[in-house]
Amino acid sequence: MWKIDLTYRETLQTTLDRLFEKKNTLQNHRPLSGVALQQIIETLSIEWTYNSNSIEGNTLSLRETQMVLQEGVTISGKSLREHFEAVNHQTALRYLYGLVAKNNPISSNDILDLHALVLRNIEDDFAGRLRNAGVRIAGANFTPPNAQKVSDLLDELILFVNENPSGLNIIELATVFHHKFVWIHPFFDGNGRTVRLAMNLLLMKEGFPPAIILKNDRAKYYAGLNSANKGNYKKLVLLMAQALERSLNIYLSAFPGNTAEYTEISNLVKEADLPYGQEYISLLARQGKIDAHKEGRNWFTTKEAVEEYAKKQNHKSTA
Ligand SMILES: Nc1ncnc2c1ncn2[C@@H]1O[C@H](COP(=O)(O)OP(=O)(O)OP(=O)(O)O)[C@@H](O)[C@H]1O
Ligand SMILES: [Mg+2]
Repeated sequence: MWKIDLTYRETLQTTLDRLFEKKNTLQNHRPLSGVALQQIIETLSIEWTYNSNSIEGNTLSLRETQMVLQEGVTISGKSLREHFEAVNHQTALRYLYGLVAKNNPISSNDILDLHALVLRNIEDDFAGRLRNAGVRIAGANFTPPNAQKVSDLLDELILFVNENPSGLNIIELATVFHHKFVWIHPFFDGNGRTVRLAMNLLLMKEGFPPAIILKNDRAKYYAGLNSANKGNYKKLVLLMAQALERSLNIYLSAFPGNTAEYTEISNLVKEADLPYGQEYISLLARQGKIDAHKEGRNWFTTKEAVEEYAKKQNHKSTA
């Protein structure tokens, strides 16, 4: 079984704790109305489809993805394949929500099923099938294992996730699962899209919303995977945590009576009298040290989050 180096925990503990707190708040709230909930799920689903496919190279914009999915239109100048990728991902998402509701331990059949949906009508020869020959990943610092080992390695990974021998929390477990999965690279194509679905199956079964890795974070994502290949999970766990925090904030903002006002940091420093400047607050946000999330290229946080951090620092220095 895989041994995981947990030294990153020291720096990420506050971030991870904050996410579990938010998840608990979410679970302890009165449920959102059906309409409000459906709306969030729908919006996040479109974002998820857009970002995941865009990371893979699909050129449909967010708006175009939305038009294809919600209005069934065809976008001129875009290939049939790109349309299929959008529709397939949405179908796979629906399937995924069904798996979450069933709440069984994750199985290799779930993964093959998701993969089959992702590549349907696109690469029908490979859809839902493990690879039977070698692959290389451009830009990666390793070569995936021999095809003959893939099936056993995948079983081993699933066992690892279901038994969790290192006692990882679910955010860490989903991150390690993601990394090991793309390291194994069980399929000829579609590994990334499939693992971004399967990883969220783990998180969602535990009551988290999906973590959506943004296209804008692609470089950071690959850097995180590369450093995980060397045994260091810090960057990748932080990236997952940030993706998760964004979705948590979206859910929490939908509750009546919510007072958190997430504001772009460059605006916040103008509006509020804060103990730090824009650069330092942005750094704290990127490091996961304050309650914050990214939209597009910009970081958003609240006045209270910055003040709370400053207060803690004061306590530390006067203690
Ligand atoms: N340096 C790396 N180390 C480990 N895995 C990597 C690295 N670079 C990329 N990958 C993984 O390989 C995936 C690409 O595999 P593949 O082309 O089969 O999937 P895809 O779904 O078609 O594309 P994508 O994953 O880009 O969406 C990436 O998403 C990423 O998860
Ligand atoms: Mg690919």
